[in-house]
Amino acid sequence: MYVCLCKGITDRQIEAAVHDGADSLGKLRKTLGVASQCGKCSSLTREILDETLQSSSMLEIPMLAGMPQFYAVA
Ligand code: FES
Repeated sequence: MYVCLCKGITDRQIEAAVHDGADSLGKLRKTLGVASQCGKCSSLTREILDETLQSSSMLEIPMLAGMPQFYAVA
């Protein structure tokens, strides 16, 4: 879905930029140009940023990234 109508930027583009290291609204603005004109997309962009960062950090926890979630008891 389009998030920034001024620049024609979608939620997928924002998510991809976050995965590529844009971890702040300023970096997204610099990278994509999102929220650089009227600014009406700022709050939704920040929401997508926060959700993407949160879901990315969950994958970095070994127990949730395919590692065993239990220990064998001898
Ligand atoms: S809608 Fe994003 S800057 Fe206007």
